[in-house]
Amino acid sequence: MIAADATPAVNPCTVAPPVLQVQNLTVAYGHGPGRVIAVRDVSLTIRAGERRGVVGESGSGKTSLARAIPGLLSRGGRVVAGRVLVASRDLRDLSPRANALLRRSAVSVIFQDPLNALDPVRSIRSQVSEAIRLRRPGARRQSRRRMRADVEALLEECEIRDAARVMGQYPHELSGGMRQRVAIAMAVAGDCTLIIADEPTTALDVATQAEILQMLRRVIADRSSAIMFITHNLAVVSQFCDTVSVMYAGRVVEEGPCAEVVRDPLHPYSQGLIAAIPSLTGPRQELVGIPGEPPLLSEPESGCRFEPRCRVGHGVAICREQVPGLDPLPGRSGLRHVRCHLVDRASVGRAPAPAREA
Ligand SMILES: Nc1ncnc2c1ncn2[C@@H]1O[C@H](COP(=O)(O)OP(=O)(O)OP(=O)(O)O)[C@@H](O)[C@H]1O
Ligand code: SF4
Ligand SMILES: [Mg+2]
Repeated sequence: MIAADATPAVNPCTVAPPVLQVQNLTVAYGHGPGRVIAVRDVSLTIRAGERRGVVGESGSGKTSLARAIPGLLSRGGRVVAGRVLVASRDLRDLSPRANALLRRSAVSVIFQDPLNALDPVRSIRSQVSEAIRLRRPGARRQSRRRMRADVEALLEECEIRDAARVMGQYPHELSGGMRQRVAIAMAVAGDCTLIIADEPTTALDVATQAEILQMLRRVIADRSSAIMFITHNLAVVSQFCDTVSVMYAGRVVEEGPCAEVVRDPLHPYSQGLIAAIPSLTGPRQELVGIPGEPPLLSEPESGCRFEPRCRVGHGVAICREQVPGLDPLPGRSGLRHVRCHLVDRASVGRAPAPAREA
């Protein structure tokens, strides 16, 4: 489990300048009747130093959102509406060279499978050196000796034991956890303002996962980087993040301070996700999955996408016929937003959740 942080003196989620603004972003794959809308009209802002979790079931659009931000959508995927501002600059307004430079210096991506980031035929030293040259101003003019020392120090910072030996190895010679540490070292080689981590520890065993999350949290704090941390595991988010966006069928359905959302989820889908996390301190309860299946994202949207599975709104006319907006909640902190027509009914009679374990 990850150790809890001391409460920050100021809340970075309200006072710090934005490092990422996603505005009404829609991402699609393919064309014509089979076109899949993977991300639909998503807006979110991440501020300097903020740790934002993005959670949702498989297929909810997390990876499509993460890849659209730095322009790394897989084949067939494209942004069909909306825009992305990094450090308040619209990437589309920049020349290709300035765009690449800004993305390199400001945004780093860590994928679930570190082999995506690593070249199988180059040594770890060569690949980490290249990341340092790309991300640190002036590093191109460094001597070989100085670069070697920097690579070793960076690997040690990412808790790679025997870094001098590992530098001479190739990706296939390392364990999955070690490869992910190398990929993280490459992502944090500079002082990037935003790290996007897409399920960075999902493929690892629980003990390695906890160690790597703790290390990742330390290295991003040392650089004051913000992070968008994507996972299907709300328990991990609740321990790692300040704020959370819950995605369902390509839309954000709830967002707010992580502790508040986990303690008192207001959207019926978030309530279902949280009910599925084992309780740490409360009485033993049976874990409850969310019955039903997510919708086909190639089908048109005519109401709330969660309606067929919703314990509150199933069969209710407004839920079937009108797409709910992501609205702020009167009487709660201004950071809390929920996409639900019947949010008052959804929260009635629910006791706040007990502490959860990762
Ligand atoms: N390259 C692609 N071509 C066609 N459809 C795609 C492609 N990539 C993703 N999709 C579709 O887009 C939707 C969202 O997928 P995405 O991978 O973004 O979800 P996710 O939340 O990251 O899921 P997971 O938790 O399984 O990683 C899904 O319906 C998926 O099938
Ligand atoms: S809008 Fe209706 S169907 Fe959708 S989550 Fe809210 S209550 Fe459920
Ligand atoms: Mg994914």
